[in-house]
Amino acid sequence: MDKASLIVGNWKMHKTAQEAKEHLLRLKALLFRSLAEVWVAVPFTAISIAVEAVKGSKIQIGGQNMSDLLEGALTGEISASMLLEAGATFVILGHSERRRIFREDNFTINRKVKLALRMGLSPILCIGETKEENAAGETEKVLYRQLRECLKGVAPSQADQLIIAYEPVFAIGTKEPAGVEVVEEIHHLCKNFLAEHLQLQEEKTRVLYGGSINAANAGNFLTLPHVDGLLVGGASLDVQSFAEIVYQVQNGV
Ligand code: PGA
Repeated sequence: MDKASLIVGNWKMHKTAQEAKEHLLRLKALLFRSLAEVWVAVPFTAISIAVEAVKGSKIQIGGQNMSDLLEGALTGEISASMLLEAGATFVILGHSERRRIFREDNFTINRKVKLALRMGLSPILCIGETKEENAAGETEKVLYRQLRECLKGVAPSQADQLIIAYEPVFAIGTKEPAGVEVVEEIHHLCKNFLAEHLQLQEEKTRVLYGGSINAANAGNFLTLPHVDGLLVGGASLDVQSFAEIVYQVQNGV
């Protein structure tokens, strides 16, 4: 197993600050011996308390979204500096739920990615095709477009701060992950695209897989040569399941 593998939990709109604290104290204890890199994206209101809870461990805390502007009259938004001050080190951007439910487009996501990089937050850029696009054979076209448009203007020197998460929309929260061979092929294609078209060196930008990962199937993906880690939604809410996934990295499944 590649030592650089990264496991990211995405809690979405789950857990209050108090629940987050209890969960992360347990996770910290369970991962005491783990050398794996573990990041957890928590709700905004839980970031500070989560950062406090994971002190003394290598676990990093991040946000699940941020504004594309530094500050302003934007009711309900949160800025990069607010995330940083709370102790976040990374932010998930362009998740398919943000794209679909909140109508975020590649142009806005691109502004967010560049701002996060400029401010010193590691962006996890989510890309992925819908079931319809997949059925129409448009997967590569959709992914390349998302990469090209969302990463426009990102400098090669920023490649190692950037993370890509391939999450086919139809695999999210469905208990049916994408096929292992398909994921390996798509990750390979995306890495080639990053290197050839965006001059982002493939060994620097990590590409994670996300979509219905659990403790039983995580190992199948972690052994793939072009998969650098996992973005875990539902299974990250259960501390035991998440710890089991993390230990598969360390054990080199
Ligand atoms: P899931 O979610 O693991 O529950 O499928 C993944 C995600 O949305 O990031």
